Amino acid sequence: MREASDVDFGPLADLIGEWSGAAGTDVAPEPDGKEINPYFETITYAPAGGVRNADSQSLVALHYRQTVRRKSNGNVFHDETGYWMWEASTATVMHSLTIPRGVCLLAGGKYSGAADGDSRTTIEVSATADDDQWKIIESPFMRDNASTVSYRQKIIFGNETLSYRQTMMVDIYGTQFEHSDENTLSRA
Ligand code: HEM
Repeated sequence: MREASDVDFGPLADLIGEWSGAAGTDVAPEPDGKEINPYFETITYAPAGGVRNADSQSLVALHYRQTVRRKSNGNVFHDETGYWMWEASTATVMHSLTIPRGVCLLAGGKYSGAADGDSRTTIEVSATADDDQWKIIESPFMRDNASTVSYRQKIIFGNETLSYRQTMMVDIYGTQFEHSDENTLSRA
C-alpha cells in the first residue's frame, strides 16, 4: 500500500469527507407488495491509499461507510461498507460493497471525464450475478430466497453535493422486484 498522502485519487477525490442527507427514498420488497421508506443517512469516504497488484496494476482506493436510518423512527435499517477504487491507466472505476444480509458485490464501470461544461463528476457502475467481470456474491439462503440478480448505481458529485440512484433487481416472493434507493447529500 502507498500512503494516502502520496496518492492522486483522480475522479474520486471530491468524494473524500463526510456527507449527510435527509431526502432519501427507498423502495423495498415486502411479501404483499412494496414498502416505500423515507430515510436520512450519513456516508463517510476516507482515503485508503494506493495499491499495487501483481507488480503491474496500480489502484487508488477510498473506504466508505454508509449508515441509513428510517425517518419514521430513527432506527438504522441499512448498513453498508466497501471501497471505491480507480485505475487511471484503464479509466476503470470499481465499487465493492458488503451488506449484512450475506450479500456482497464488485461493480465496475468506465470514467472518461466530465462532459463539456459540467463541473460535477458522474460515475456509473454495475454488476450482475452471472457476469464474468463484475459480480454479485451471496449466501446460499439469499441465492435461494432473495437473490440480487443485478445492481447498477449512478453517482453524481461535486460543488459540495452528492446524489445517487441505485437499482437492485431482487428475485423474491416469486417475482423480480425492483429495489431502489436515491438521495441527495451535502457535506456535513
Ligand atoms: C440505501 C440503501 C438501502 C436501503 C435503505 C435498503 C433497505 C431495504 C429494506 C427496507 C428491505 C426490506 C426488508 C426489510 O424490511 O429489512 C430491503 C431488502 C433487501 N435489500 Fe436492501 N436496502 C438498501 C440497499 C441494498 C443493496 C445495495 C443491496 C444489494 C446489493 C440490497 C439488497 C437487498 C435484498 C437482497 C433484500 C431482500 C431481503 C428481504 O426483503 O428479505 N439492498 N432493503
